[in-house]
Amino acid sequence: MSILWLIAVLLLLHYCASGVCMHHGIIGGKVSIPHSRPYMVYIRDSETKASCGGFLVREDFVMTAAHCNKNHLMVYLGVSNTHHLPVSVAVHPIPHPKFNKSQPGHDIMLLKLETSATLNKIVKTITLPKTENEEISKNCMVMGWGWQNYSMESPSRVLKEVNVTLLDSKNCGPNDTICTEGYYGPSLGDSGGPLVCGDVVQGIVSYYIHESKNIYRSRYTHIAHYLPWIHQVMKNPNQLQHETWKGKLDKLI
Ligand SMILES: *[C@@H]1O[C@H](CO)[C@@H](O)[C@H](O)[C@H]1NC(C)=O
Ligand SMILES: *[C@@H]1O[C@H](CO)[C@@H](O)[C@H](O)[C@H]1NC(C)=O
Ligand SMILES: *[C@@H]1O[C@H](CO)[C@@H](O)[C@H](O)[C@H]1NC(C)=O
Ligand SMILES: *[C@@H]1O[C@H](CO)[C@@H](O)[C@H](O)[C@H]1NC(C)=O
Repeated sequence: MSILWLIAVLLLLHYCASGVCMHHGIIGGKVSIPHSRPYMVYIRDSETKASCGGFLVREDFVMTAAHCNKNHLMVYLGVSNTHHLPVSVAVHPIPHPKFNKSQPGHDIMLLKLETSATLNKIVKTITLPKTENEEISKNCMVMGWGWQNYSMESPSRVLKEVNVTLLDSKNCGPNDTICTEGYYGPSLGDSGGPLVCGDVVQGIVSYYIHESKNIYRSRYTHIAHYLPWIHQVMKNPNQLQHETWKGKLDKLI
């Protein structure tokens, strides 16, 4: 089975290969109260204009899906309406080393911000899971600026959110994913956004499968499965600091 990862780009034909489609845009749900989800981050490639969601996990790190990786990614913090974007922040992308865009799995990426975020009322971090086996509340919420209709280009200017219910893990597949199912949920352009259960982010919007007429199964990267990798990346900024210093030294010389 081949997977076609899709992010919201402004030209659109078919996004589904063998019934597997990428996520763009919340179907159903409602418009979020402006700035009520202060961890939510808008991500856009400055060249292709492809966009994704993401979320702030520390002042200096945004988490998103690895298939959102592009050469000129910029992040925007504290966004409600994408037609009124604040100053962009450049990032250094760190996709999971095992991610392969022709296969499902390992769809997780950290973006190291070149300028750390200033936390305030509209820019805040969200809590990551603590251990792999912690119990997850089944009542979750997913959000994004993606399409509002599966069959028509219809990104939302304002952030939208929808309630979804987690499936039992035995009905979901590989153990690095968690799933929800139903007509309402994430769609094209919602990739990389958070699946929030209780007050904790448990998943990253990855892709969906069109199962039958009104049933869409959404797959999310199970963040808790990747805690060792996450901690290693976030603990270990040496390489970046080294590059930054080298850059400064080069300028001085
Ligand atoms: C990625 O997956 C494809 C298809 O399964 C495979 O042919 C390719 O070798 C993989 N690439 C890497 C770098 O593992
Ligand atoms: C989505 O768009 C199609 C085609 O325009 C339309 O027939 C359908 O009613 C729309 N669905 C929703 C939920 O708006
Ligand atoms: C999700 O469920 C909560 C609690 O039942 C409710 O307050 C909220 O309005 C729902 N959100 C949406 C988008 O339907
Ligand atoms: C689940 O994850 C563990 C590592 O955390 C791995 O060793 C195991 O093979 C995985 N099981 C399945 C069914 O994918």
